[in-house]
Amino acid sequence: MVILCTVLAIGVIVAGVAVFAVYIFFKPKMPCLVVSDAHLVLLQYDQGGTVQNLQMSITVRAENNNSKADAAFSSIDLALGFHGADIVLLRAEPFVVARNSSLPLQYNVLAVGPTLDLDGMRAMDESLKAGMVPFDLFGKARTRWKVGVFVKLRYWTRISCRLRFFFPGNGTVVPTDRDRCRSR
Ligand SMILES: *[C@@H]1O[C@H](CO)[C@@H](O)[C@H](O)[C@H]1NC(C)=O
Ligand SMILES: *[C@@H]1O[C@H](CO)[C@@H](O)[C@H](O)[C@H]1NC(C)=O
Ligand SMILES: *[C@@H]1O[C@H](CO)[C@@H](O)[C@H](O)[C@H]1NC(C)=O
Repeated sequence: MVILCTVLAIGVIVAGVAVFAVYIFFKPKMPCLVVSDAHLVLLQYDQGGTVQNLQMSITVRAENNNSKADAAFSSIDLALGFHGADIVLLRAEPFVVARNSSLPLQYNVLAVGPTLDLDGMRAMDESLKAGMVPFDLFGKARTRWKVGVFVKLRYWTRISCRLRFFFPGNGTVVPTDRDRCRSR
């Protein structure tokens, strides 16, 4: 019994040291999605609550800061909304980001015709008056990468953030909103 316990204890310690060594050597980092730029080009909105024409450019960067492993992104499913109403869906085909690098996804959003409810209309009126229109970017993506030879990690990385734009105005995104807009 004593021998068995000793063997078991040593086994646990060895396993712990091995995990720690693998961790130190590979320093696994979660790949993630980061909004690197956004610009509201055009927003035409009528008093009936219909967004007649919305044009926005958004650059989402897929980052892989693992220095020893490529990362695969798939099921990329993002949406842009205003006050609970989905304005447009942002999708992407699966892709791989090489180790220690990133890949920009450029979206030129065009939305014609989404209608806001009463609350949304009120919010839109107030936002336009205040010169700052907020949109919500949310969604998720599946990431997959390897640590060493055998350990395969899979994660859903989720993003949910608010981007405020100076509009009517120059249409740029508030820099602090952009910097905070990353998945985890
Ligand atoms: C990845 O590395 C870049 C450059 O060093 C850095 O700007 C970025 O914030 C890092 N991303 C993550 C998710 O750690
Ligand atoms: C990863 O990239 C950063 C900046 O691009 C560089 O400073 C760093 O040395 C790279 N690390 C490795 C392990 O290649
Ligand atoms: C856009 O307008 C806002 C508010 O008027 C200002 O703070 C910001 O610096 C402007 N950005 C650019 C790129 O001109």
